Formats: sequence, C-alpha cells, structure tokens
Amino acid sequence: MPNMQFYFTVPPNLHPIVQVLSSMIINLFIVLPVSIGLFFWDNAKQLIEKRKYPEPKVILVTGASSGIGAAFAKEYARSGVTLGLLSRNRERLQEVAEECEIKGAKCYIIAADIRDYDTLKETLEDFDNQHPVDLLFSNAGISGGEDDKVWTETWKKVFDTNLNGNIATVLPIYERMKRRKSGQICINSSVFGYFGPPYSIWYRTAKSALNDFTVDLYYVASKYNVRVNLLLPGYISTNLTRNNPNMVSAAYFAKIVKKQLEDNIFCITYPFYQSLFFYILSTLPKRVAPSVALALAEITKRPYDLK
Ligand SMILES: NC(=O)c1ccc[n+]([C@@H]2O[C@H](COP(=O)([O-])OP(=O)(O)OC[C@H]3O[C@@H](n4cnc5c(N)ncnc54)[C@H](OP(=O)(O)O)[C@@H]3O)[C@@H](O)[C@H]2O)c1
Repeated sequence: MPNMQFYFTVPPNLHPIVQVLSSMIINLFIVLPVSIGLFFWDNAKQLIEKRKYPEPKVILVTGASSGIGAAFAKEYARSGVTLGLLSRNRERLQEVAEECEIKGAKCYIIAADIRDYDTLKETLEDFDNQHPVDLLFSNAGISGGEDDKVWTETWKKVFDTNLNGNIATVLPIYERMKRRKSGQICINSSVFGYFGPPYSIWYRTAKSALNDFTVDLYYVASKYNVRVNLLLPGYISTNLTRNNPNMVSAAYFAKIVKKQLEDNIFCITYPFYQSLFFYILSTLPKRVAPSVALALAEITKRPYDLK
C-alpha cells in the first residue's frame, strides 16, 4: 500500500522558486517511480503467494451488535463454528447471536466496552483460554460526527475507541496467536485512513494511525505465522452512515471480506472506486487536498455523510 505523498520539503534557505522546482523534481523523478515500482512488485508478490487458507473455527468479532460486525458474524455462522460476539449492548448482541445460532454456530456474548482496556484484556484472555481464537475481527468503532461546532470535544472519545480500543483488542489476542504460531487478525479501519474531509478530523486521524499500526503489526506478526489484514471499507449502509439505502449493504460487504480473508489479501478495500478516490486525494499536496475534497462534495452534492 504505497502512499505517494507529495509532501516533501526542501531546505528553507533556498530561493522559493528553487524550493518548488526541487520539490517537484524529487517527487516526480524519485518518489513517484520508486512508489510505482514497489506497488507493482508488492502486488505481483501477493498474487504469486496467493493460496487458500482453511476456514477458521473460532472467530471473535468486536462491534458485533450491528452493521459490519453483525453482518460479518452472520456470514461466518455455520455448524462447527464458534463465535465470540463483543460489544456494549447485550440485547442487540443476543439478537445477532440468535440469527447465527439458527445457522448452526455456537455463540458467546461478551458485553464489554473496548475503552475499558484492563477489563477488556482479562475478558479476551478468558475467552481465548476456553476457545483459542483463529480469527479476530477488530471492528468496533464510532464516527464522532462531522459537526465543526463539537469537533474539539470529541477527540478523546473517538481516539479511545477507534485507535486505542482496537489496539487494546488486538494485542492480547496477538500475544496468544504468536505463542500458538497461528491465527489471523483483521483490523477494520476505513478509506478515511487514506484521506478524509477536514471535519472528520478525529475519525480520520485515528483511522490513519490504525492503518500505520496494522502495517507494522503485519510485518512483526508475519515472523510468527500470524496473518494480519487491513480492511478499508468505503461507504457501507450501517448506523454509522444513517443506514443510507444507496450504499453497499453490510451483508454483501461481509461476503467480499470473507472471500478476501480466505485468500489472505493484506489490504482489503471496497467499493473500489471510493477507495481509489480517497487514495488519490491522499496523494495531492497536503494544503490543497481538504479544499479539493470539500469542493468535490459540493459539486457532486454528495456530502461525506457520517452520523
Ligand atoms: N459504515 C461505513 O461506511 C464504514 C466505513 C468505513 C469504516 N467503517 C468502520 O466499520 C466499523 C463498524 O462500523 P459500522 O459501520 O458497522 O457501524 P455500527 O453499525 O455503528 O457498528 C459499530 C459497532 O461498534 C460497537 N462499538 C462502538 N463503540 C464500542 C465500544 N466502546 N466498545 C465496544 N463496542 C463498541 C457498536 O456496538 P455497541 O453500541 O453495542 O457497543 C457496534 O456494534 C467501525 O470501525 C467503522 O469505523 C464503517
């Protein structure tokens, strides 16, 4: 997942015109060719190494009470599969569990807040003691809204959940998988991790940091035969996007993700055109990208609509 960041600054003692020209030359003739080369090399390598992995038997899903997490649990539900369903709302988890049990899965409800890091660690370890986890889907998250009047108040909530909460979920299970030398961890980030409109500041900076965390974890975990996957959804119809019926359904999205996880694709992103759009925005010069993003939203009458 190379990122061609046109963000290079040259020594400030140069004449401004020389600064601009040298920045352009460095980006065009060094950064761009190297990034493109590595991009093709990495993708070719992934295709060559591609193989099917066995279906996981024990799956732990956070944020399983609604949206993508619930759809993911239902997609994996079948006889012989054990599901750990984690979120704060026990009643909604119960409803998801009932649907999964009809499909033959054995379900365990784990009512927990991923911001309560110490309790979460104990809870996850207890679950893993009884049911060693094959696949962790670290998915719980919130949007924090896009209202510029409240954005200075929401940073802690969004970071505690979307960044620290996901890391606190992943680490205890990763340690266990590392000892067992097997397992798969899928971390649900967002295309906003590439780039997001300015009012989604906490959401996008938390997701962007989660991307970096996942990239590093992938590298470290590969030594212990633990597979790590980064999920970057575009707009999916869930509570987070006000259940917008024009967006891809969570059930369809979960099917795509399952297939790609079986192939162990590192970076899973869908719908493709949205992913490409945010990726291109991320490569624009940093000072103009937010204005371009907002102008495009204005022209297309498509606001970046998060609850
Ligand atoms: N929908 C999209 O377009 C979209 C796009 C990109 C990325 N994503 C990501 O996908 C993930 C799932 O979101 P969604 O779209 O499925 O929205 P959703 O329907 O609102 O689901 C969010 C889930 O996270 C759980 N959750 C929130 N805070 C939690 C906490 N502190 N502790 C435990 N569980 C918590 C919620 O359950 P409780 O309320 O029961 O705790 C719920 O199950 C999020 O990480 C989101 O950022 C979504």
